[in-house]
Amino acid sequence: MTVVVSDYAIANPTYGLVTDMQRLTEPELMEDPAQAVAYAGADFDAAHNRIVEAFGAYFPGVELAGNILDLGCGPGDIGFRFAARFPASTVIGVDGAAAMIELGNRRKALEAATGERVRFIEGRIPGAAIPAITYAAIISNSLLHHLHDPGVLWETIARYAGNGTLIYVVDLFRPQSPAEARRLVDEYAAGEPGVLQRDFYNSLLAAFEPGEVEAQIAAAGLDGLSVEMISDRHLVVYGSKA
Ligand SMILES: C[S@@+](CC[C@H](N)C(=O)[O-])C[C@H]1O[C@@H](n2cnc3c(N)ncnc32)[C@H](O)[C@@H]1O
Repeated sequence: MTVVVSDYAIANPTYGLVTDMQRLTEPELMEDPAQAVAYAGADFDAAHNRIVEAFGAYFPGVELAGNILDLGCGPGDIGFRFAARFPASTVIGVDGAAAMIELGNRRKALEAATGERVRFIEGRIPGAAIPAITYAAIISNSLLHHLHDPGVLWETIARYAGNGTLIYVVDLFRPQSPAEARRLVDEYAAGEPGVLQRDFYNSLLAAFEPGEVEAQIAAAGLDGLSVEMISDRHLVVYGSKA
């Protein structure tokens, strides 16, 4: 495993390296239909576009073809974007919340260009009925911080990734204090509905420090992965299994 020190981390050396703030978990699944609708309606356009674009930066020149597994897919926005970016791909989104899967399936019916190449499976990780097929990529955004036992994400990745599978996980990391979490909410979510501001705050407090993520990856034997802090609140884990 490599720990990459990004330009961002060099310029902001205090971010996320050590925090005195204990992790405060939030409910794993986003099962409340109102919460799911608010989440699906939030403006993630720029953020989710960046996630797809950044995939190209971490895996230069890669044109994904084949199956992409999206763990904790929510209403599927990122999956639809990957399907649009990689027309030879098929996306399988997995989420434990029925409300999220329902929203994903509704959108699938409306997406003329990609709908037939995106499908959803309702299932909680671990234990979800994930097809044991070859995956060109396993992706996940903002699932890790929801998990009470983060090991289940890395164990699932280790189980379903083959030698050539590209692994790309994006998540928040835990800020140094509740005050810093509040500042991040004010800076990045001030225009969002109250329920989303609350969820973002709780998610920051539930997130892991980069060092904790490195330990999780090592425990799962995923030595081919690197961890990189990419902003004042996000980290990326990328690489492959071998
Ligand atoms: C913050 S949302 C992210 C959704 C999507 N990846 C995105 O970026 O828009 C986290 C999702 O993970 C799901 N989730 C949390 N724990 C899970 C688990 N153990 N198994 C499956 N899904 C889970 C939640 O239901 C929720 O839909």
